[in-house]
Amino acid sequence: MRSLSLLAGVCLSVNALAAVPANEPVQPIAPAEITSPAKVELGKQLFFDPRLSRSGFISCNSCHNLSMGGSDNLPTSIGHNWQEGPINSPTVLNSSLNLAQFWDGRAADLKEQAAGPIANPKEMAFTHILAIDVLRSIPQYRDAFKTVYGSEEITLDDVTDAIAEFEKTLVTPNSRFDKWLKGDKDAITQTEREGYELFKSIGCVACHNGPALGGNSFQKMGLVEPYQTDNPAEGVAGLTGKDADRFKFKVPTLRNVELTYPYFHDGAYWKLEESVDVMARLQLGRKLSDEEIGKITAFLKTLTGEQPSFALPILPPSSNDTPRPQPFE
Ligand code: HEC
Ligand code: HEC
Repeated sequence: MRSLSLLAGVCLSVNALAAVPANEPVQPIAPAEITSPAKVELGKQLFFDPRLSRSGFISCNSCHNLSMGGSDNLPTSIGHNWQEGPINSPTVLNSSLNLAQFWDGRAADLKEQAAGPIANPKEMAFTHILAIDVLRSIPQYRDAFKTVYGSEEITLDDVTDAIAEFEKTLVTPNSRFDKWLKGDKDAITQTEREGYELFKSIGCVACHNGPALGGNSFQKMGLVEPYQTDNPAEGVAGLTGKDADRFKFKVPTLRNVELTYPYFHDGAYWKLEESVDVMARLQLGRKLSDEEIGKITAFLKTLTGEQPSFALPILPPSSNDTPRPQPFE
């Protein structure tokens, strides 16, 4: 019995050579499958529409800029009235692969997440009712919601559903690393390959694995050595009140990590090399040489995939009935 299953295992990996190696802890990103183009298009408009904010100035794209890896490249985001945000804005790219949303996982999925920022006084600072009022006052939006959801009533549920459907298309397949995983031996260099081997052998893959190299577990930041920060975020403990959850954060994806600086929940580190050094010391108790850090960094840069690419959505104009923005209140 035992030798039989062993044999089966050998056969499997031989077969897999042509496609994806079965025994790698990282898998390629699958391209998005769009089942409802009209819904995705509507969600795209909403993602870019600053009229969902009180100021009429801040859209989802302000803090998750799709021209910059789905992040804002700031330590912490700037919200309504130039308020300083509490935590680094994670990328929306490949966020559909996360087991839950936010650093502490407090939203179960993208749909639940999307309601948060609109009503957050420090982000878009609107009420859901007012945001819906704005959309209802715009005839083209009423038409679009009618086409997609069968009613021009427009509910928060529809709004968040459409945004989530758009976000599910924001995956980044065909990175050089994925090409290598699929069998193109020349897709990455020898140095990058050595970086990947180090990434596996020293234990980074324990937390950064799966297609997103993260996003699938909550782990303590500062496992071996405590992380020093002025940021008051407590991680999962902020939700559970449990001491054991202090400083537990959702492991961020390393896909497109070259684009999503600065790093960590407090955005304290701008250089990828430094964040690799911090990770090795704090999570694994290992001091890496500059050469090792260079190799791992080179590997991480092969994880940049094809960025979402589409025509900028043109937003329907406000009507005479649209509530006016309040940029300075
Ligand atoms: C003012 C900046 C700002 C705006 C505007 C904003 N976000 Fe965010 N977003 C953040 C920050 C900061 C976080 C992390 C918050 C946390 O984890 O506590 C976040 C988290 C997320 C996440 C979770 C990603 C992950 O890996 O956990 C998603 C998805 C997301 N935002 C989508 C949106 C959408 C959709 C909108 C528009 C409706 C939006 N955001 C508007 C700053 C912003
Ligand atoms: C025990 C789990 C664990 C291990 C092992 C681990 N990480 Fe992490 N990694 C995390 C967590 C959790 C975070 C988020 C920490 C935070 O923001 O406070 C993170 C964040 C990062 C980031 C920053 C990403 C961003 O967008 O902010 C990088 C880069 C990174 N890890 C690379 C590595 C490398 C390279 C290794 C191996 C040397 C490694 N990690 C080992 C759990 C781990």
